[in-house]
Amino acid sequence: MEILHVSAECYPVAKAGGLGDVVGALPKYQNKLGHIAKVVMPMYRTKYLFDHEFEVVHKGGFAVANYWFDYTIIKETSQKTGFDLYLVDIYGILDREKVYGYDDDSFRFTAFQIAVVDWLSKWQHQPEIVHVHDHQAALIPFMMKHCYAYNHLAQIKTILTIHNAEYQGWMGWDKSNYIPHWDPWKSGMLEWGDVINPLASGIKCADKVSTVSPGYLEELRYSANGLESLFEYEKGKCIGILNGIDTEVWNPEIDHYIEANYGLEDLGAMKAANKKVLCDQFNLDEDKPLIVFIGRLVGEKAADLLPAAIGDSIYHLEGRMNFLVLGSGESWIEHQLQNLRGHFMGYYNAQIGYNEKLSHQMYAGADFLLMPSRVEPCGLNQMYAMRYGTIPIVRKTGGLKDTVKDFGDEGGYGITFQNASVWDISHSVYRALELFDQEEKFSAIRRQIMQIDNSWEKSAEIYLNLYHS
Ligand code: ADP
Ligand code: GLC
Repeated sequence: MEILHVSAECYPVAKAGGLGDVVGALPKYQNKLGHIAKVVMPMYRTKYLFDHEFEVVHKGGFAVANYWFDYTIIKETSQKTGFDLYLVDIYGILDREKVYGYDDDSFRFTAFQIAVVDWLSKWQHQPEIVHVHDHQAALIPFMMKHCYAYNHLAQIKTILTIHNAEYQGWMGWDKSNYIPHWDPWKSGMLEWGDVINPLASGIKCADKVSTVSPGYLEELRYSANGLESLFEYEKGKCIGILNGIDTEVWNPEIDHYIEANYGLEDLGAMKAANKKVLCDQFNLDEDKPLIVFIGRLVGEKAADLLPAAIGDSIYHLEGRMNFLVLGSGESWIEHQLQNLRGHFMGYYNAQIGYNEKLSHQMYAGADFLLMPSRVEPCGLNQMYAMRYGTIPIVRKTGGLKDTVKDFGDEGGYGITFQNASVWDISHSVYRALELFDQEEKFSAIRRQIMQIDNSWEKSAEIYLNLYHS
């Protein structure tokens, strides 16, 4: 079977979060299963672009609101990613340094989608499945079915995977001229709540819809940022498929980003060596349990609770632990986390920004990883942490609930809590300290989590069943 994935992110080309990791891994595993999976994404001005060789495979153009845009599709020649990688270049629109965060993002991603559909319509060799990811690619099923210029593609089946329904790509109707002419009777297929809602359109128009964990799909029926009734109505075509992790990239035995590689046999000594590197760099005490947070500093991740929860834990638990935070996001959260450093020197530190290497070192060197997320469609961090023998402390929501079982339960191995609140986080930190002090149990759990199989193999098969259906 031949599948074309369409996404705004794909690791290692460009990544802002877990979407990049998933789109960089799933196609590779689909190819290993004997299928042909390819990826098309925007050509941003990233380091990857300059470090790799590309060839031009197609040139075309399209008109939007009386302006003409030329686009070029380039293909990477080395195949090092494990799949055919295509980039869409639209001069001045997509070729920027960041993936998101520009005022004209609605236009940028609509143009990206038009270029993909236009290219597909001219490509003699067409895939059997077009698999689109998140709202930045979710207008494609509509375009393929209802835009006059492209509805000869309507027989190709489409799948939408929702990595995060909080972001829907809303556009006012004044932007309707971004979308190529469509059958006016089908306007309802673009709309939700009086605006153009690309994610809602994808849910309505795709042949099948998946979310990145079964637990998240359940939650969307009552909490989906306004789309609850749509999920209820379309539930027949929705399925929750848990993400996997790329065990070639996330493997402590060969990870070139970390200071000391390790496996089960030298876990204790090498994790200690990795922890020392972090403690030396961030002025922390290697004898105390190290609890880390890695992620986007936004409300969804409950990052706003971190300053109070960290302060409360250090104060009430008498500084028996250390905290280290890596992240970027809302500036007021960044400032609070930076200011906290002055109050708890030697107990807490934070690096504000995005740093792939440091994130790997933290998964390797930490004792615990904290994820108090209010919303977590799947979450990859907890799975990476476990693969590196770092015990997850998570709120029971979405994919976190599906992947972490509390050590107080039969066969459990993590620390879970109910509410995104300072109290619940502090209480979980207390439980982490108790566990850390029970050396035998602590080390048995580390060994147990390193052996959990969260690889893509299983989920890649489930996606193939979905395509067949
Ligand atoms: P989300 O996609 O919602 O941000 P996930 O848990 O699915 O959450 O994936 C987050 C990914 O982004 C992980 O690979 C994590 O290590 C990485 N990440 C997040 N913030 C940073 C950061 N500041 N520096 C490096 N990596 C980060
Ligand atoms: C989104 C979600 C995250 C998920 C990731 C990959 O960014 O917020 O929970 O793991 O996508 O699917």
